Amino acid sequence: MEIIIADTYEGMSELAATMIERQLLRKPNSVLGLATGSTPIGTYQALVRKYKEEGLDFSKIVTFNLDEYLDLSPSHDQSYHYFMDQHLFNKINVEPRNIHVPYGHAEDVEQFCSWYEEEIRQAGGVDIQLLGIGGDGHIAFNEPGSSLGSRTRLKTLTKQTIDDNARFFTNPEDVPRFAITMGVGTILEAREIIMVANGKKKAEIVAEAIEGPITAQVSASALQMHPEVTVILDAEAGSRLKRADYYKWIFEEKKRLIPRLIGKVT
Ligand code: PGA
Repeated sequence: MEIIIADTYEGMSELAATMIERQLLRKPNSVLGLATGSTPIGTYQALVRKYKEEGLDFSKIVTFNLDEYLDLSPSHDQSYHYFMDQHLFNKINVEPRNIHVPYGHAEDVEQFCSWYEEEIRQAGGVDIQLLGIGGDGHIAFNEPGSSLGSRTRLKTLTKQTIDDNARFFTNPEDVPRFAITMGVGTILEAREIIMVANGKKKAEIVAEAIEGPITAQVSASALQMHPEVTVILDAEAGSRLKRADYYKWIFEEKKRLIPRLIGKVT
């Protein structure tokens, strides 16, 4: 696990976007796993800028989003599909047919979830997965107690997640209680994972996930078992890490190895 503590949110976002860019340059038809939430917005902005100003090509990518609220249609302005359209898909040259976001109006949710898993497999698996972390330690909507081997399924959201998300809805009663989400096991099958987190309110849970024990109570802690994870934080989100100085030192030392490190650190 590589931990990078950037000074700012912008620095964090630029690093994450650069890692995705390098993946696309290595493999233009990469399968990208994508996340929603406020954290990755800056990463998407940086990718859009790379598309517009540097011609980064998204025409061959295939995307799979982590999750979607149950019963919100893709055109609902709080649906994750709508979020992705607004922040990324409508602003780059991705082929609409290559976009996958769980469908909140699936009639048979179980069947839909199996189909989603199969689509990921058919696409060859996720090459690089972008993740945020919830205030309760979730990745995607894998709330505390989610099996570390879980697959795509319907999940009931915690009170904390519902409260965290209430800021996006006019009426708190409208915040969905259920979501379709990739499982922890699904996420761990990605070849490479980037997790981004910013702000003071994430500092404690980030420290638990990275330096605490691996536990289903903090689903992000499962990333400790994955061989290719980069956690990119801003200074505030990294402020509770016991070994912050060591991570910074590693990052500085690694810069010297840049010619021999392909696709990692800048
Ligand atoms: P946030 O959500 O980026 O809006 O903080 C993160 C998450 O719940 O995964």
